[in-house]
Amino acid sequence: MVLTMRATMDASKFKQVGVCHGPRCADYGGRALADELMASGISYEILECQSLCPHSPVVRIDGIVKLKAKLDKVLESLI
Ligand code: FES
Repeated sequence: MVLTMRATMDASKFKQVGVCHGPRCADYGGRALADELMASGISYEILECQSLCPHSPVVRIDGIVKLKAKLDKVLESLI
């Protein structure tokens, strides 16, 4: 797991991660996800509402939308 996290953090230097901080996403796990990314050393951009609120939390990785995003899936996308 440590190796995976290290590879992920290295990959995150080359990928742009955005986390929606709109009200719906923030309430449905976006804020917690952002905190977990930060704790993992992964920087992210704060996004305004992406108009995908029913699928919150919403994350973009290099412009690709991840719906109902979970930390493990986001980390997989960074590898
Ligand atoms: S609040 Fe995140 S998509 Fe609307």
